Amino acid sequence: MDEVKDLAAQPLKKRIFSGIQPSGIITLGNYIGAIKNWVELQRDYECLYCVVDLHAITVRQEPAELRRRTFEAIALYVACGIDPEKSTIFVQSHVPAHAELAWVLGCYTGFGELSRMTQFKDKSQKHSDNINSGLFTYPVLMASDILLYQANLVPVGIDQKQHIELTRDVALRFNSVYGDVFTIPEPYIKETGMKINSLTDPTKKMSKSDPNPSSYIAVIENRDDTIRKIKRAVTDSDSVIKHAPGKDGINNLMSIYSCFTGKSFEEIEKEFAGKGYGDFKAAVGETCADGLENVRSEYARLIKDKAYIESIMKSGAEKAFYMSRKTLSKVYKKVGFYHV
Ligand code: TRP
Repeated sequence: MDEVKDLAAQPLKKRIFSGIQPSGIITLGNYIGAIKNWVELQRDYECLYCVVDLHAITVRQEPAELRRRTFEAIALYVACGIDPEKSTIFVQSHVPAHAELAWVLGCYTGFGELSRMTQFKDKSQKHSDNINSGLFTYPVLMASDILLYQANLVPVGIDQKQHIELTRDVALRFNSVYGDVFTIPEPYIKETGMKINSLTDPTKKMSKSDPNPSSYIAVIENRDDTIRKIKRAVTDSDSVIKHAPGKDGINNLMSIYSCFTGKSFEEIEKEFAGKGYGDFKAAVGETCADGLENVRSEYARLIKDKAYIESIMKSGAEKAFYMSRKTLSKVYKKVGFYHV
């Protein structure tokens, strides 16, 4: 009896939700900025990690490629160390409640609020031939991803902070009308290493949708490509290895080096004092390729095991389905939908 009471008194683990779009090959930016942290978070939190394919079709996708990338993303999550026994790994379109809750939340989100989203403004400029309403309501779907699972924390890059703020606003608005339906989530943004920039334009974020493959390191590319791309990375005109404002290229390579070695910027500056960019880039390239080696070999093994990857998708979707139904039923009841 006492034992039962003790168990009940234990606080439940806080819940985490995050996702990546299968809209391109997963990059070093996604790995360092997101997945590597996700792996660590599994220790202390109950985690749900999703491949958000519904989000991906806000810009045109080649169907066969979207399908392949979705499969590869799940394999990569596992190869990186996300443990399907500990965390819920699933594909967004396998769980219908995401789209269902998004409809309801859309009715509680202002047109003006969505108009202020900087990602919408950026993307509608970039894809001016296809400014569809999904691109506009994208943050509502993201809010539904998070709120469906009553997530406490959402690890994201700084570029997604505005979407989390919107999620909170919508959740608070809904709760103020209907009572405590949603947990109010917090963004979880790591200060360092969160943002790896493009190798060809280090003032911009490293992006998997960049048409130039030299701009990014793909987590699963081969070792020689990684070393070559880093060797050719754009750097500034002086040749001192120093972390300083305006030295975006060197700062970026230092971040990459720091992430794989655990060294601080000062330590890196000391290590390369008196040395040139050539030496530094060679070291960054080797270290990065070494650091990704395990993930790459594990991925190569998993990608051949279709049955295993699909079994992870299936059991993840089942768990997510169950959790999401609980929230959705509550919402449907609160807003007054007839239940038989
Ligand atoms: N919008 C996120 C991005 O582009 C991806 C995403 C969709 C997401 N739904 C989410 C991230 C929910 C965290 C939580 O990076």
